[in-house]
Amino acid sequence: MPDDRTPDSAPENDKPQLFIKTYGCQMNVYDSDRMSDALAPKGYETAKAPDAADVVILNTCHIRENAAAKVYSELGRLRILKEARLKQGRPLTIGVAGCVAQAEGQEMLDRAPVVDFVVGSQAYHRLPQLVERAKDGERLVETDFPTEDKFEHLPQPSKKVTLGRGPAAFLTVQEGCDKFCTFCVVPYTRGSEVSRPMSQLLDEARGLVDAGVREITLLGQNVNAWHGNGLGDAASNLGRLLFALAEIDGLERLRYTTSHPRDMHDDLFAAHRDLDKLMPYLHLPVQAGSDKILKAMNRQHTAQDYLQLIDKLREARPDISLSGDFIVGFPGETDEDFEATMQLVRDVGYAQAYSFKYSQRPGTPAAVQETQVPEDVKVERLARLQALLNEQSRDFNAASVGKTMSVLLDRVGKRDGQLAGRSPYLQAVHLDAPMHLRGEIVPVVIEAAHANSLSGKLADISATDSLVKGDAA
Ligand code: 5AD
Ligand code: SF4
Repeated sequence: MPDDRTPDSAPENDKPQLFIKTYGCQMNVYDSDRMSDALAPKGYETAKAPDAADVVILNTCHIRENAAAKVYSELGRLRILKEARLKQGRPLTIGVAGCVAQAEGQEMLDRAPVVDFVVGSQAYHRLPQLVERAKDGERLVETDFPTEDKFEHLPQPSKKVTLGRGPAAFLTVQEGCDKFCTFCVVPYTRGSEVSRPMSQLLDEARGLVDAGVREITLLGQNVNAWHGNGLGDAASNLGRLLFALAEIDGLERLRYTTSHPRDMHDDLFAAHRDLDKLMPYLHLPVQAGSDKILKAMNRQHTAQDYLQLIDKLREARPDISLSGDFIVGFPGETDEDFEATMQLVRDVGYAQAYSFKYSQRPGTPAAVQETQVPEDVKVERLARLQALLNEQSRDFNAASVGKTMSVLLDRVGKRDGQLAGRSPYLQAVHLDAPMHLRGEIVPVVIEAAHANSLSGKLADISATDSLVKGDAA
C-alpha cells in the first residue's frame, strides 16, 4: 500500500533536511518513520522533496522484479541531482535501505557509484553514525543482522511528530519469516522470525494513543506468528496481544497484517469474536488454489485447510471482509491448477485482493525450476484472475451503499472541503466534512460505490444506532 501522507513542510532554517522515499509494504512505511526518528535527535527535519534535502534515503522493496528496477532508475535521477548539487557547493548524501539494500549489499555500491551508504533493516538504529561517516566521504555497507535489539535503541518520536503522521498508526510487532515459501525472498532479506516483547509493544502503543492515535495496525511479515519474547511472554500469542491492546483507553481500532494460514490460532479467532475494537477485516494470503502448487510453494497448507479457516473466521465474526494475495504462473502451474485458484476465489468471495505474476527471485528455490510458465500465459491468467477479483470487490463495495459505517477520518480528501478515511472493512471513504473532524471516527452514510472507494455524507448523530456491527465509534 503506498504511503500517501504529506511530509511535514520543510522549514527555512539551517537544520539538516532528510527525504525518505518508501517503496513496498507497510513495514517499510513504519521503518521509514523509525529512520526519521533515529535521525531526529541529530536535528534532521523532513524535506518535501529530494532537491530540498541534504540526505536522501531510498527505502526499498525486493519482493518482485519491478521494485528493484524502480530503485535503480530513481538512483539514475538522483545522480543528476547529486552532480548539480556538488556544483552548487551543497553536497547530497544518498543512502539505500530496505530489502534491496539487504540483498545486494556491496554490489549496490559497485553498481551505483551515486550511493554513499547501504543499510539493512536490522541496522537502522546505527543510522546517525552511518550518515555522519558517509558525509565525511566514506562509502559504507551495514547489512549484518546485529545481535542487539534495534527497537531498544531507536528513539520514540515526539507527540507532535506522531500526531503529524495521522490518527492511524503502524506498529511492527514481529520481523522476519521462517516459512520459506519457495518463491519468496523475505526469509533471506529480513532474516529469521523475531518477536518484540509484549511490554515494549504495550509501551509503544500507549505512547501512540497518548499522542492522539485512534487506530493501530500491528505489522509483521508473518504477524500471527508473533509469540512474544522474554520471560513473561514466553507462551504468548497474537490473539492475547490483541486482547491486551484492546484494554488501552482511547485506542478505538485494531488491525493486523500480514498473516499466514498456518498460524491462525484459537486466541486469534476469539479476538475476532470478542473484540469490537478488532476491525472486521483480514488479509490472509493463500497464493494459489491447487494443492499441487501449494505444496511446491511450501505453503504448508491445502486449499481445504484455508477454506476451513475462512469458515471459522466467519463463524467468529460473520461480517468479516477478506483480502488475499495470489500468484499466477508459479513454475509447473497448468490450466487445471489455475482453474483451482479461480474456484477458490469464487468459494471465498474477497472484498479486495492483490494478485501478481510469478517473478523469479534470485536465490529462491522456485527460481531455478525448469517448469517456468511462459510470460504470455501468466499475462492471460492474471487478467482473468483480476477480472474476477475486481468483480468481487465491486460487488462488495456496492453492497455498502445505504449502510451507515464508522469512518476514521485520517486524511484530507482530493477535493477542497473533503476528508477521507477508512471504513471498518478497510474501504477508502470520501466525504465533505469540516477539517476539524480530521482524526475523528464519525458515522457516514454510504451513498455511492466507485472502482476502489466509497463516498458518502456525515450521518445524523442520532443515526449511530444503525452503525454496522462492531464499529468502535
Ligand atoms: N513473485 C510474485 N509474487 C510474489 N510475492 C512474493 N514473492 C513473489 C514472487 N516471487 C507476493 C506474494 C506475497 C506478496 C507480498 O507478494 O503474493 O504474499
Ligand atoms: Fe514470504 Fe511465505 Fe514468509 Fe510470507 S510466509 S514472507 S510469502 S516466505
